[in-house]
Amino acid sequence: MSDESERPRFDAIMSQGGDEIIDATFRGAQSGDVLAMYELSKPFVATGGLIARDLELFDTDVEDFYVVEIDEVVVACAGIRRFTDLAEIFNVAVDGRWQSLGIGRFLLTSMLIVLESEGFADAVVFTKTTRDWFARYGFLPMDPASLPAERLTMLDPERKSIPMVRPTVQASDSIDALASITELRVRFERSGVEAVWDNGCDSLLMFAEKNDIDTASLCRGGMCGTCSSALKQGTVSYDVRPDVDPGDGSILLCISRPAANVVLDL
Ligand code: FES
Repeated sequence: MSDESERPRFDAIMSQGGDEIIDATFRGAQSGDVLAMYELSKPFVATGGLIARDLELFDTDVEDFYVVEIDEVVVACAGIRRFTDLAEIFNVAVDGRWQSLGIGRFLLTSMLIVLESEGFADAVVFTKTTRDWFARYGFLPMDPASLPAERLTMLDPERKSIPMVRPTVQASDSIDALASITELRVRFERSGVEAVWDNGCDSLLMFAEKNDIDTASLCRGGMCGTCSSALKQGTVSYDVRPDVDPGDGSILLCISRPAANVVLDL
C-alpha cells in the first residue's frame, strides 16, 4: 500500500454565494472510499455510461483511483490505467448534486496534472454517453488503431465506446489550471456584458474592472466586504478564506475566481 501523503492532493475553497464555504479536496482514494465510489458510479452504470465494477474490483484497484471530497463526503471519483506511452482516465463519476458546479472540472483538471507529473504527455478516455462533456474539456476523437495493443485487447466491440485524447496539464495547483482546459464565461448581468475569463486576472474584481464594469472595493483582500456582489449562477473559488460574510447569495469579488461559468449581479 502506498503512503497516502505521497499521492498528489489539491485543496479548493469554493462558494456558491453566502457564508457557506465548500471545502473541496482532490486526493488519492483509500480503502474507506470503496463503497462511496461504487455507489457514485451506480447511476452511470445504470444509464450505460460506465462499465459495471463490483466492490471487490474497486478495492483491488483503489490505489489507481482518486476522489473529490466535500465535507468528508466523496462526491466524485476517477481511475487511471497506465500503459507504456499513454494513460487512460476511466470511471469518471460525479454526484448528480454537484454536476455543473465545477466539481467535474476540478476532478478532471487534477487528474490531468497527476498524469503530467507522472510523465504522460496525453490522456485518453473512452466514452459512450459523455462525448460532449469530454469535448468541452478539449478531448478529441482519436483513431483506435493508435492505442496500445494491451488496451485494444480490452475493448468490447459491442459497447462501441469512442476513444478521445487530449494533452495532460502542467501545473502545480488545480484551481490555477481550471481555465486551461476549457473557457470559463463570466456574465455581468445588469451591464449586459459577457466575457471569457482571463487567467491573467488575479480576481473577479480585476476582471470586472478590465471589462469596465462598475465595482466598489477597499481592502482588496477579503477583509472589508466592500466588493460583495450577488452570484446569480455558478461557483467561484476563493484564494483565501473570506474574513467577512459577503451576505446572502453573494461573494467577495477581490479574492475569488470562477470555478464554473458564473453570472454576477453587476
Ligand atoms: S474589497 Fe474588501 S473584501 Fe473585497
